[in-house]
Amino acid sequence: MARSVNAKVVIIGSGISGISAAHRLVKAGFNNVRILEATARSGGRIKTGRLGEKIVEIGANWIHGPSQENPVFCLARQYGLLEPEALTPENQAVDIGGHPLWVPNFFSSSGQRLNAEDILPAQEMFAELLNESSEFHSQGGEPWSSVGDFIRSQVKQRAAEKWKDVDAATRSLRLCVISNLLKVECCVNGAHSMDEVGLGAFGLYKTLPGLDCTFPGGYEGLISNLMSELPCGLVSHSKPVRCIHWNNTEKRGTPVMVECDDGEKVVADHVIVTVPLGYLKKHSSTLFQPSLPLHKSHSIQRLGFGTNNKIFVEFDEPWWDADCEVIHLLWEDEDAMVDHVPDLQRSWIKKLFGFTVLKPTERYGHVLCGWIAGHESEYMETLSEPEVTHTITQLIRRFTGNPTITPRRMLRSQWFHDPWTYGSYTHPGKGCSQQDLDNMMEPLPPKGSSSQPLQVLFAGEATHPCYFSTVHGALLTGWREADRLISHYSSVNPSEISKSKL
Ligand SMILES: Cc1cc2nc3c(=O)[nH]c(=O)nc-3n(C[C@H](O)[C@H](O)[C@H](O)COP(=O)(O)OP(=O)(O)OC[C@H]3O[C@@H](n4cnc5c(N)ncnc54)[C@H](O)[C@@H]3O)c2cc1C
Ligand SMILES: *[C@@H]1O[C@H](CO)[C@@H](O)[C@H](O)[C@H]1NC(C)=O
Ligand SMILES: *[C@@H]1O[C@H](CO)[C@@H](O)[C@H](O)[C@H]1NC(C)=O
Repeated sequence: MARSVNAKVVIIGSGISGISAAHRLVKAGFNNVRILEATARSGGRIKTGRLGEKIVEIGANWIHGPSQENPVFCLARQYGLLEPEALTPENQAVDIGGHPLWVPNFFSSSGQRLNAEDILPAQEMFAELLNESSEFHSQGGEPWSSVGDFIRSQVKQRAAEKWKDVDAATRSLRLCVISNLLKVECCVNGAHSMDEVGLGAFGLYKTLPGLDCTFPGGYEGLISNLMSELPCGLVSHSKPVRCIHWNNTEKRGTPVMVECDDGEKVVADHVIVTVPLGYLKKHSSTLFQPSLPLHKSHSIQRLGFGTNNKIFVEFDEPWWDADCEVIHLLWEDEDAMVDHVPDLQRSWIKKLFGFTVLKPTERYGHVLCGWIAGHESEYMETLSEPEVTHTITQLIRRFTGNPTITPRRMLRSQWFHDPWTYGSYTHPGKGCSQQDLDNMMEPLPPKGSSSQPLQVLFAGEATHPCYFSTVHGALLTGWREADRLISHYSSVNPSEISKSKL
C-alpha cells in the first residue's frame, strides 16, 4: 500500500495528459486530486465520432510507433484494445522513421491517373530532404531558417543535376509532386506552411519503432479505461478555469487559488496545467496572476501551433484501387513548389493534399479521410457542411474525370474553432530550440525562488522535449509532472519512503 498524501492537487484539463497525471498521483496515494475540465467530456484531442454507423476519429487516430517503449501501446495492449496484428513482434520491429510506406494512387487536376513510377523520383528526393532536414539540430548551424526554404532550394539544385535529361513536362510534374508533399508535411506538422517550421529544431521530434496502428473500437476506449480506474467524482466537467492565482505569500493557507468561470474558487498546493498550447497562446496573459516569467511566455509565442483537419467522405463505390491506402491530388499549375494558396475563398481546397483510405474495407466500407492544414483549413471550418461537401464533390469529379461521383455522407473536424484548443498540435516554429520546450515544462516559481516550490506545473503535448504533438508525448508529460510531485513528497519526509514501498 502506498502512503497517503493530503496535499491538494488541481489538474486543469481532462485530456490524456491530465488523466494520466491524476492516475499516477492517485496510485501513489495522493487522496486530494481534482481535475477541472472546461467541456462536458474527457479526452480532449482524443475524440471518437461517428459517420453513420462507422467509428471515425475526429482527433488522434494512430498510435505512432507502437512498441515496448510507447506507453500508449502498452496501456492499449493491457486493456485489450488492439488487434492481434498490432501486437506481433514483427509489427513492433518495423522502423519507418515516422513516414509509413502506404500504397498510393495519384490523380492530376486534368483528370488523369498518373503512374507511380513517374512520381517516384520526386518522392525519393523529398524523403531524402526531410531526412536531411532532421539532422541539422545535432550539427548546429542551419543554412536556412525554415524546412520549406531548405527543401525548395535543394530541390532546385538537385533537379538541375539529376533531372537534366528529363523532358520539361515530366520535370514540371515532379515539382508539382513536391508541392503536394509539402502539403502532406503541413498536415503531419500541424503547420500553415513548411516555411514556418524551423529547420534547426525540426529534428527535435523523435520517432519510435512500430508500424502505426489504430483502435478498432475508437481511441476514446483508452480514455474510458483510464477513467474507470479513477475515483468517481474526481473530474468536474463543464468547469472552465479563468485564472490561476499563484505565489500567495500569506504564511498560512495554500499558495494557489484557481478561479473558475462560474465563480467557484478552488484552493490548491499544486496546480498542473495541461491546456493546449493554442489556448496558452491566446489566454496566457490572463490565465496566470502574477503573469508568467518572460522566458516562458516567449517560448509559448515562439513554438508553433497550427491547424490540421480531417474531412471524412463516404462513397457507395470506390474510385481508387483495391490496395490503395493513400490518394494524392496533384495540381498541374503548382510547379513553383508552394504549400499555401494565394486566395483562401476561391482556392482553399487546393491545400487538401488528398485522402487516406480507411481500412479494412469490411469494417468501413468506402470511406476516405481528407487532410487539410493551415489557414485554408481554418477557413474551411467557417463554411457550412453543404458548402464543404459541394466543393469536395467538384474536386473529386475534376480529378477523376468522372462527373457522376457523389459522396453519401461527410463529416469534418473543426479544431481551430474549438475555444479550448485553437488548433491541432505543436511544431517547432522558426528560431525554436530545445530551450523552448525546456521553458514550457519548467514549474513555477522558477528555480532559485524563495517561495513555496512546485506551485504550478506544466504538462500536455507541447511540453514534451521530443514527442510533442502526439498522444504518447502528452501521456508521458502527465506522468512526468505527477512524478515530480511524488518525489517532492518522498524527499520532504524521508521516513515515509520506506513505508511507501510496503
Ligand atoms: C486532428 C488531429 C489528429 C491527431 N492525430 C494524432 C495521431 O494520429 N496520433 C497521435 O499520437 N496524436 C495525434 N494527435 C495529437 C494528440 O491528439 C494530442 O497530442 C493529445 O491528445 C494531447 O493531449 P493533451 O492532454 O496534451 O491535450 P488535450 O487533449 O487538448 O487536453 C487538454 C484539455 O484541457 C481542456 N481545457 C482547455 N482550456 C481549459 C480551461 N481554461 N479550463 C479547463 N479546461 C481547459 C480542454 O478542453 C482539453 O480537454 C492529433 C491531434 C489532432 C487535433
Ligand atoms: C537518414 O538516412 C540515413 C541513411 O539512410 C539513416 O542512417 C538515418 O537514420 C536517417 N535519419 C533519419 C532522421 O531518418
Ligand atoms: C512571489 O513572492 C515572493 C515573496 O513575496 C516575491 O519575492 C516574488 O517577487 C513573487 N514572484 C512573483 C512572480 O510575483
